[in-house]
Amino acid sequence: MKTLFYPLLAALTVTSVSAETVWLDDLNLAVATQDFGAPQKNKSVDGHALTLGGKVFERGFGTHADSTLNLKLDGGAQKFSARVGVDDEINKNPSASIEFIVRGDDKVLWQSGVMRAGAAAKACEVDVTGVTALELAVSDADDGISFDHADWAEAKFETAGAKTFATSGGAVLPPVAPYILTPPAPVTPRINGASVVGVRPGSPFLFTIPATGDRPMSFSAKKLPSGLKLDAKTGHITGTLPRPQAVPADAKGGYFLTHDNVSGNYTVTLVAKNSLGTAEKELRIVCGDRIALTPPMGWNSWNCFAGEVSAERVKRAADAMVKSGLINHGWTYVNVDDFWQNRHNSKDPTLQGAFRDVQGNIVPNARFPDMKGLADYIHKLGLKAGLYSSPGPWTCGNCTGSFDREWQDAAKYAQWGFDYLKYDWCSYAPAMEARRGNSTNYPLAAGSWSGAHPSSHADLMKPYAIMHEALAAQPRDIVYSLCQYGMGDVWEWGDQVGGNCWRTTGDITDTWKSMSSIGFNQDKAAPFAKPGNWNDPDMLIVGEVGWGNLHPTHLTVDEQYTHISLWCLLAAPLLIGCDMEKFDDFTLNLLSNDEVLAVDQDPLGQQATCVLKDGHLRAYAKKLADGSRAVGFFNLGTQPLNLSFSAFSPVGLAGRLTVRDLWRQKEVAQLNTANGALLLAIPPHGVVLYRFTPAK
Ligand code: GLA
Repeated sequence: MKTLFYPLLAALTVTSVSAETVWLDDLNLAVATQDFGAPQKNKSVDGHALTLGGKVFERGFGTHADSTLNLKLDGGAQKFSARVGVDDEINKNPSASIEFIVRGDDKVLWQSGVMRAGAAAKACEVDVTGVTALELAVSDADDGISFDHADWAEAKFETAGAKTFATSGGAVLPPVAPYILTPPAPVTPRINGASVVGVRPGSPFLFTIPATGDRPMSFSAKKLPSGLKLDAKTGHITGTLPRPQAVPADAKGGYFLTHDNVSGNYTVTLVAKNSLGTAEKELRIVCGDRIALTPPMGWNSWNCFAGEVSAERVKRAADAMVKSGLINHGWTYVNVDDFWQNRHNSKDPTLQGAFRDVQGNIVPNARFPDMKGLADYIHKLGLKAGLYSSPGPWTCGNCTGSFDREWQDAAKYAQWGFDYLKYDWCSYAPAMEARRGNSTNYPLAAGSWSGAHPSSHADLMKPYAIMHEALAAQPRDIVYSLCQYGMGDVWEWGDQVGGNCWRTTGDITDTWKSMSSIGFNQDKAAPFAKPGNWNDPDMLIVGEVGWGNLHPTHLTVDEQYTHISLWCLLAAPLLIGCDMEKFDDFTLNLLSNDEVLAVDQDPLGQQATCVLKDGHLRAYAKKLADGSRAVGFFNLGTQPLNLSFSAFSPVGLAGRLTVRDLWRQKEVAQLNTANGALLLAIPPHGVVLYRFTPAK
């Protein structure tokens, strides 16, 4: 069988300083694999002087967990030594925790134990006599990779005369040539996207009919409630709806699914027409307290632009969402992440300036000269606009946060016309301590995040409840996205503080390890997903991503199919993280398969759970509103998986079933679960995504 691993070996021509000492930084470090940023010679991962516990080191290897550097010593070295730790550049952020591990010929030779920010360098001295293959690894200490900036300072070998060693990174799957599975949308009209939408009484309504098919196309709607109007050319539905007269006595979260024609619950027939045909689809508009009745779909600036975002880039992203046709598949939100505000002690002139004006209103930075103009621009395209802040005085990027200004900020967002707020915990803990009088440290200098995170639910909920109240009082609907990485099992109480979605994990990055360890560990939160409340395993990492350093995603093609299939099964908010001006056909295709997206947008709002684990096989099943099941069969292994699958009970349906391949959009089998079997061929780290429907 073909082997799927191959080492990234790099031949070297460098000479060592002396015959006895080979400095690690003289070797080829560029081949090291790491889960964030690029390997650095004599610098930290962010490009600063290597600094551990206040001490600066001239030489060494700056990296980021999870990191692997393999060295072919072939018995040529006697000793490896280094000074290791978390680089000071992350300002004592408590999220950082890493472990340095030295392995020789697959045996652990040395481990640092868990190291945290601010600690002095630890001495690593290892006897490597006779070792053939040495691995220098940094793990995330099993708590996610946020802020895990790792330095191997003063790292060097004592040798018996060897002058250099070949280096390679960790094992990775070989690249897979892109292959497109989704058939092109028909030229006749087809209406895609969510079939239910929530709006609060009196809030401005905006819904763009997502329709594929040749243009020009004209739109109409049957039974559109008075108060709403439809633009026949653009398909934009706008207006406001009145407060419902009566609410059914048994009204609960999902009542709109079962009770038609109650006040505030409108079933509209959308119609799209072109010269080749006409399509119709029902849309349920539910006017009540709850919004985000299906997971939000859109784009966010962080995974591509991070601290380099600007209003111009955001407008271009909005344009790209329209020009690429994504708007025709239900993609809606265009969200600005951190760095629209001014930044504490920034050296960048575009981030310098007052944090707030004399009335206390937040001041956007020079890259965002007209916030209302930006939101208007996005709305004119039929899209919605999103923004970012923190309940602490400073955001995670050291920009102005909302601490003590929640009502004023919420009012501003609404005046500007924003429809979505991501509210990110950073710096809240020390502010809370200071407020209680346990510290004299308030107002906080940016980056002083050393306060311990609270463990009580009440403390964790408080800042989110305050902003919720402020948002709820605004005359517009603002989707509320909690970002605190899952602390205190946020899924259990996120709804109580008005959250529409909540991050369940630390930050994602574009590696298999990051994506799979997040995506395949969401079952605990699954019971809490429902219309209006979504577990958020973080934003998408397909396309050109890079947090200010754009590069094609490090996920293989099959890993990307896995990523999108899994996020849709998980009923996750889908926020594209790439530069949408740089779409290639493959990425666009991944994001525009309407049958796959329909799994995410299914109105029942259930989250898939793992129903089968067998070796490298994982099956995730999601119950859909029409009684069918979406099932993803994933291969976590590095070899192709071919199997005959006949144990249907975990799928949750029995009898005669129609099986449809959602990526290929075609029926693949009719079977009876009593005696049928499905042949599954799943590529390494790949998926097949099926919908099982009881046969009529
Ligand atoms: C945190 C969040 C990210 C992003 C950055 C912005 O790390 O988890 O998604 O918003 O902050 O600084």
